[in-house]
Amino acid sequence: MNDETSTPAAPAKRVRTHHLRQLKERGERFSMLTAYDQYAAATFDEAGIDVLLVGDSAANNVYGYESTVPITVDELLPLTRAVSRSVHRALVVGDLPFGSYQASPEQAYGTAARFMKEGLAHCVKLEGGVEMTPQISRLSQGGIPVMAHIGFTPQSEHALGGYRVQGRGDAAERVLADAHAVQDAGAFAVVMEMVPGDVAARVTKELLIPTIGIGAGVQCDGQVLVWTDAFGMRSGRMTTFVKQYADLRGELLRAARAYDEDVKGGTFPGPEHTF
Ligand code: KIV
Repeated sequence: MNDETSTPAAPAKRVRTHHLRQLKERGERFSMLTAYDQYAAATFDEAGIDVLLVGDSAANNVYGYESTVPITVDELLPLTRAVSRSVHRALVVGDLPFGSYQASPEQAYGTAARFMKEGLAHCVKLEGGVEMTPQISRLSQGGIPVMAHIGFTPQSEHALGGYRVQGRGDAAERVLADAHAVQDAGAFAVVMEMVPGDVAARVTKELLIPTIGIGAGVQCDGQVLVWTDAFGMRSGRMTTFVKQYADLRGELLRAARAYDEDVKGGTFPGPEHTF
């Protein structure tokens, strides 16, 4: 069939929060990646990634901070807006930075509303379990869908004593209590980070809302990775839960070196690049 006679593909249907719940009910998994800019977002959207998180991990991956703690709302909002404007299908999650929601439900509402209005996010994510239920209820009741984040919560790195698995042994009950609390408060999904696989499996089985694992085993309803880790955009040690699908840094390095060599050797621009 030639292009003129073929029927154009129907536009992809936007992924909504309730679709994730339906996928869970049907026993189907979904994918989520971080994204911080137009080209990555559009590419992941085209690839069929269901959810894009404009994570506060932009702190390490865009702004060059050592942790997620310093990033501000004003730094994260333009990235969120860029991602939202670049996708047709994926659900875009704005990540509330440290200090922008913990003080009170009203503070959380003010910040989350900015992510929806200025960042054009479709929902927001915040870190914390039982202690964050007033914030989750306030946002959910005020029309802002909330994705919760329990287990290891990077914004509390200093309070938790560094990057460590949460929920081992007796601490499993804490993870379960957090999971049930965020569901009861109105969260539509919950990220579980660095939680033993058997604990994450139990949470996934007990909850009605979808679970999204990062270092939480294969039994979660969805999986999320930081894209710069998964696709090899950065150098340095990678945590064990990251599978590396590409070496984009290596490819970029090769291209940059080739360009440098061409410029310095006088072989670029060639006649074909010259008016
Ligand atoms: O900001 C982020 O990248 C995250 C993921 C680790 C889930 O919160």
